Amino acid sequence: MNTVRVNASRTYEVKIGAGLLTEIGQETRAVTTGSVLVVTDETVAPLYLAKVYQSLKAAGLTVHTASVPAGERTKCVEYYVNLLSILAAKQLTRTDAAIALGGGVVGDLTGFAAATYLRGIPLIQIPTTLLAMVDSSVGGKTAIDLPAGKNLVGAFHQPSLVLCDPDALNTLPAATFRDGCAEVIKTAILFDPKLFAHLREHGTDFDREYVITRCVECKRDVVCADEFDRGERQKLNLGHTIGHAIEQCSHFTVSHGQAVAIGTAMMARAFYPNPEEIESVLRTFGLPTETSFSAEDLANAALSDKKRDGGTLTVVVPRAIGGCTLERISVTELQPILEAGMRHG
Ligand code: NAD
Ligand code: GLY
Repeated sequence: MNTVRVNASRTYEVKIGAGLLTEIGQETRAVTTGSVLVVTDETVAPLYLAKVYQSLKAAGLTVHTASVPAGERTKCVEYYVNLLSILAAKQLTRTDAAIALGGGVVGDLTGFAAATYLRGIPLIQIPTTLLAMVDSSVGGKTAIDLPAGKNLVGAFHQPSLVLCDPDALNTLPAATFRDGCAEVIKTAILFDPKLFAHLREHGTDFDREYVITRCVECKRDVVCADEFDRGERQKLNLGHTIGHAIEQCSHFTVSHGQAVAIGTAMMARAFYPNPEEIESVLRTFGLPTETSFSAEDLANAALSDKKRDGGTLTVVVPRAIGGCTLERISVTELQPILEAGMRHG
């Protein structure tokens, strides 16, 4: 098992190890010995809830559970208020804890409820998707969506503990696993040439414990440098400005991971000296690198994105593996960048 210590506004450990799901009870006792509300979704519940429930009960905790429908649409005001009502009905206090068992949707929804119920109660993240293990469970961003857009209401609320069991990835649909791989490749391009080389060599048969640990360490470093997302943390948006535009133009039929992969490939073609190096790794993971939307359509969609700030926006530019820069561009520069990102050679 590997342990990564995060020294943000709260200090906590991220533990990564096969079999950790059965040790959740003992691990949770370091955070609370009282009551817990385990929140999961209807896909994850039949797979892992019984195991987690038994481990928590065996450790002497009072265990309540709540299951929400799977999918992004659950990250909404209605399910948020439902969770608050359950927390109140079960009379959880600030010495108890909420546990998010699932992907980024369950993590963000439960996290936001934990951030706001009683002005904040402890949160334990048990991520079960690759994306949630390497990204959303670490760093304290919690949010729900509004009809007007994604993640428009949220709070920074660092977890008290994060437990990643790579064995949980065995039941993940291949497409969901690939989506998570896009974020892993993004992390390698941003911060770690050695991780990039490992991914290039092993493809989807990568060493899960090593790769998850390195991604968590990279995220830890960027979160500790800029917990509240005023600068350095924005590097995590590599490929995301274009990616969000692709998701929007496709009416969300292109998944987030696929869109980020295309966005990363386009930024590589626009700026990286040898874009094929990045494109070939994305292809090895079964991720797309091209879009049929025009540069003009993508620019229009991107400029309605919330990262736009007056007449400029910040983009993450891949100059080298482990050497990406944040650059402010004027809105008029975006379309030419997208056009360059469409071209090969
Ligand atoms: P998700 O939570 O919707 O999970 C994807 C699907 O996989 C769901 O149907 C889920 O039920 C299923 N699933 C989860 N674990 C499984 C398992 N072990 N076996 C089988 N099926 C399983 O999606 P996601 O990709 O994990 O997360 C996406 C969300 O994360 C988005 O809402 C995004 O905004 C958010 N996010 C947050 C942050 C952050 O820092 N807070 C960062 C990135 C993304
Ligand atoms: N995934 C973006 C962030 O945590 O900042």
